[in-house]
Amino acid sequence: MLKNQTYLITGIADKNSLAMYVAKEVIKNGGSVVCTGLGVSKFHHNLSERATSFLNKNFEDFKASITEELGDYQTEILDVTLEENVEDFAKKLQAKGVRLNGFLHAIAMDKTIRDKKVKPLLDVSLSEFCDTMDVSAYSLIRLSHYLLRYNVLQPGASICSLSYIAAAKVTFHPYRNMSIAKAALERITVELADELGRKHNIRANAIRFSTYMGSKAGNATLTDADVAKSEKMSPLGNASPQDLANEVIHLFRPNGRITGEIRHVDGGYHITG
Ligand SMILES: NC(=O)c1ccc[n+]([C@@H]2O[C@H](COP(=O)([O-])OP(=O)(O)OC[C@H]3O[C@@H](n4cnc5c(N)ncnc54)[C@H](O)[C@@H]3O)[C@@H](O)[C@H]2O)c1
Repeated sequence: MLKNQTYLITGIADKNSLAMYVAKEVIKNGGSVVCTGLGVSKFHHNLSERATSFLNKNFEDFKASITEELGDYQTEILDVTLEENVEDFAKKLQAKGVRLNGFLHAIAMDKTIRDKKVKPLLDVSLSEFCDTMDVSAYSLIRLSHYLLRYNVLQPGASICSLSYIAAAKVTFHPYRNMSIAKAALERITVELADELGRKHNIRANAIRFSTYMGSKAGNATLTDADVAKSEKMSPLGNASPQDLANEVIHLFRPNGRITGEIRHVDGGYHITG
């Protein structure tokens, strides 16, 4: 289905990341992947010792999981908040002759969620608000911009981003600041669908996925009770990472005519409550 197609997969932290399931499925369907992970780049300055060791460990885990789960694929350090890092990454892909047929945006970060508890919105500072927006929403624009500027993202490509129902509804688990970033991510997806569809025949869609505790982000946010609750509320039960990967592959397929959609892969959770 994806023969001769190459996709950029962002957001792999380890083998349990949702993006890892997508990368595996791309390969299973005959496609190829370039994977990016968070690490220390030459564009990071004044990092504390703690931040440096966190980023180094993150990149080691990322690299090891790619080798173990996928095999020999191109990996690059990418911090989507660093303009120069994103530009340099796009240039590097161009220089290597990589042509992308799409990419997965699977990146989110919100420092107002700690130990499965969320700060009330009234206490969120401007910098906390902007940081979450930058990493989790604006990064979709920044990445698309540079991949297009350096002719890496090809006409007809498909962009897919990962969201959650909290973009539209107040949910029972700890999302406040992040809900706003997800709403922005979805709106950016829709605006890009129009802009890039007309200019480059490029599609852009977002998928709202079920609660999933297997990943680092999921585990930092959710409790077993949250997952059990959405399992019960969803007519088909919670969707699995494999269900998500199948849908991304469907949206990645060349020559599709689906764009500007906010899809639900959530076992029907969104129709309840
Ligand atoms: N886990 C869930 O329940 C769930 C549900 C719906 C949607 N999602 C979304 O799926 C996506 C992937 O999350 P996951 O659950 O697989 O967790 P994860 O922790 O495996 O992935 C989050 C990724 O974001 C990356 N990241 C954070 N800051 C970054 C930065 N500045 N630059 C580059 N990368 C950065 C992390 O390194 C990590 O790889 C996120 O957008 C998340 O909001 C998750």
